[in-house]
Amino acid sequence: MAETSTEARTWLLRPPTATELLLVALCWLGCYWLLRRRPRPLSGLPPGPAPWPLVGNFAFALLPPPLLRRWAVDVKGDRLSPAFSPHVFLTGLTKMYGSIFRLFVGNRPFIILNTFGAVREALVQKAEVFSDRPSVPIVLMITHHKGVIFAPYGPVWKQQRKFSLSTLRHFGVGRHSLEPKIIEELNFVKEEMLKHGKNSFNPFPIIRNAVSNIICSMAFGKRFNYEDEEFKTMLKNMARALELSVNSYMILVNICPWLYYLPFGPFRELRQTELDITAFLKRIIAQHRDTLDAANPRDFIDMYFIHAEEEKNNKESSFNDDYLFFIIGDLFIAGTDTTSNTLLWCLLYMSLYPEVQEKVHAEIEAVLGRDKVPSLAHKAQMPFTEATIMEVQRMTAVVPLSIPRMASETAVLQGYTIPKGSVIVPNLWSVHRDPNIWEKPDEFQPSRFLDENGQLIKKESFIPFGMGKRVCMGEQLAKMELFLIFSSLMQSFTFMYPENAAKPSMEGRVAAASGHTVVLVDQSDEILKKSTKGIEDSLKRVIKKKFADNPEAGAEFIKKTLKNVTTSTDAASVVHSTDLVIEAIVENLEVKNKLFKTLDKFAPEHTIFASNTSSLQITKMANATTRQDRFGGLHFFNPVPMMKLVEVIKTPMTSQKTFESLVDFSKAVGKSPVSCKDTPGFIVNRLLVPYMMEAVRLFERGDASKEDIDVAMKLGAGYPMGPFELLDYVGLDTSKYIIDGWHSLEPNNPLFAPSPLLNKLVEEKKLGKKTGEGFYKYK
Ligand code: HEM
Repeated sequence: MAETSTEARTWLLRPPTATELLLVALCWLGCYWLLRRRPRPLSGLPPGPAPWPLVGNFAFALLPPPLLRRWAVDVKGDRLSPAFSPHVFLTGLTKMYGSIFRLFVGNRPFIILNTFGAVREALVQKAEVFSDRPSVPIVLMITHHKGVIFAPYGPVWKQQRKFSLSTLRHFGVGRHSLEPKIIEELNFVKEEMLKHGKNSFNPFPIIRNAVSNIICSMAFGKRFNYEDEEFKTMLKNMARALELSVNSYMILVNICPWLYYLPFGPFRELRQTELDITAFLKRIIAQHRDTLDAANPRDFIDMYFIHAEEEKNNKESSFNDDYLFFIIGDLFIAGTDTTSNTLLWCLLYMSLYPEVQEKVHAEIEAVLGRDKVPSLAHKAQMPFTEATIMEVQRMTAVVPLSIPRMASETAVLQGYTIPKGSVIVPNLWSVHRDPNIWEKPDEFQPSRFLDENGQLIKKESFIPFGMGKRVCMGEQLAKMELFLIFSSLMQSFTFMYPENAAKPSMEGRVAAASGHTVVLVDQSDEILKKSTKGIEDSLKRVIKKKFADNPEAGAEFIKKTLKNVTTSTDAASVVHSTDLVIEAIVENLEVKNKLFKTLDKFAPEHTIFASNTSSLQITKMANATTRQDRFGGLHFFNPVPMMKLVEVIKTPMTSQKTFESLVDFSKAVGKSPVSCKDTPGFIVNRLLVPYMMEAVRLFERGDASKEDIDVAMKLGAGYPMGPFELLDYVGLDTSKYIIDGWHSLEPNNPLFAPSPLLNKLVEEKKLGKKTGEGFYKYK
């Protein structure tokens, strides 16, 4: 040890050797190079986070996998979220940087467009500048910029797209002639589904096989059996290739292209998958060339050969075997996952929203009955079915960040200067969830696409297929498939969630009325019976006002709401399948903490806890659990079904994600949320209780009678109740409890000083309306 430190000291003291000098110079040069490569802030660019040298804003991609997974989860503020969704993350960044912002990948700006206005300006109004695809290394390595999807914007892309579109049309896209092919495939789908009888099954492989077979029929002239090993492997490879090419490590290939050739990890796997897909497609293309009969083209490949032959003397022609291979690849990659995922979402939404499924069934029953085969000709008569598909597409946006574009020139967009070569990312997901465009954007409401006569309305900001010159080439085909497959499946089946699978569930009567599943938990069956009766009575009061002229609809509303409510005396056993727990027990911190501690042990990690306290500190309850970041306040006002307000309370530890979930939940149950920090009384009580106490003091001092004070506040300030009437309504014990609690927290605050008169009335058990006497007497 001693020797080493002496050596170290002498190393510092002696003059450097030539090798050391060289190393230092290299290090210095390296640093200089890194700093020079640091993306310098370009004036006029949209705002965005500060980039790191070399890696830009994607430093996280350098993290080893376990840390990366952790980061991906933490960045959402939700440690349990299984996957990191870039579109949701990017939408979240708009809160910090506005609706258009930039990130850097290495030196290259990525411009994220999050509003319809910005997307339209770029993709439609400035189409000449923003119709190119990025020439980033990963794209070049995989696609060689051939095919349609990633072809540079120019004459070659135009030729290939025009030919592909007209050939797809030739094979029936957008016309009735393709219908029999789709229906034939659907018979296989139904057969496969029926094999499961009443058992639950995963529809994913069946739907994906079917959608892929529709493309196979057009491209190769044949469909594959669902058990065909080669077919299964090809589908698996395609999905894997897609997954790998958006893997975060692949982003690094854009910074250091040689990484792509590393002989390990996702790089090697992607190269191998690419080779397998290439071998499969090339073999099919070769078989077609060998068996081509130009007079009888069987499919897309044959048509391509014929066209290439016709164009062979045209110097400008881009039609050759090499290009054909990439076009076929595009049709598969772009056409399989997108359409099958949309269909799977449709089935999931139908299971989650049986009332929508019922309406779709009813429409199908009316138009098609049991036996008519669905056809595009029926579309106009089935607006609700179509609106349902559109709403699923709006909610899910299966290509949420579209396919990136590139600025081919420096241009102005939304007032910012976008340098040539910038990658443009239209965030379709954020456009579809924009509350300025869509009312209650997070709610699934197919009726938003219908007018008052039940007819379909087109909405310009509904853009699941992108827009502009490079709008999805398969839009027509996809729409056809979605309509025919969805309506045919709905005609034959009812889709339900497996009984034993955990369903999302919420707590509280307001939640039940808005369609959430609610489990009401209390100490005994007797109390629960009373509570359920209480809910029923309160709902009856609600319908008297809400459904005054339609009592039948009111009765239906009560029936539906109560159907969503189940009861239990065992909180621990219920909580394991809840997303949100709303506690509304007695206003006693110790009792509440005890309950939360127990629930904390049994609830899944993602479950959010909220207290409906009006006077206690949320932070103190959160501290009794291990989920302080998933803990907040939801303060409802009585009578809950009538009062619109909910105070959403954010403690210093409540994560932004939790807070937003609580706000979203409040909106989903039809309330108007306001937010407040964890301060005594939040907003309403903080202002109301001192006001009522000041009224009591005014009366105590003999300055005015309680009747006059009440009249004064009603007539002079426009309040619906005077302060004494309100005290009696709230309960004098409750008011005393609140003011005593605050007084103990802040004994010197005169606003929180206790009142002898109030204390006396409470002692005498004159608690207000509930005991028949408070400040006033009640019959
Ligand atoms: C529900 C199903 C589908 C959705 C949501 C979807 C969505 C999209 C989106 C958002 C784009 C990017 C458009 C842009 O840059 O503005 C796109 C491009 C494309 N899609 Fe689709 N797509 C679907 C089905 C299909 C199908 C079935 C095919 C196959 C025929 C297909 C072929 C393509 C191609 C070739 C492009 C590139 C167009 C170009 O660059 O000129 N898509 N799609």
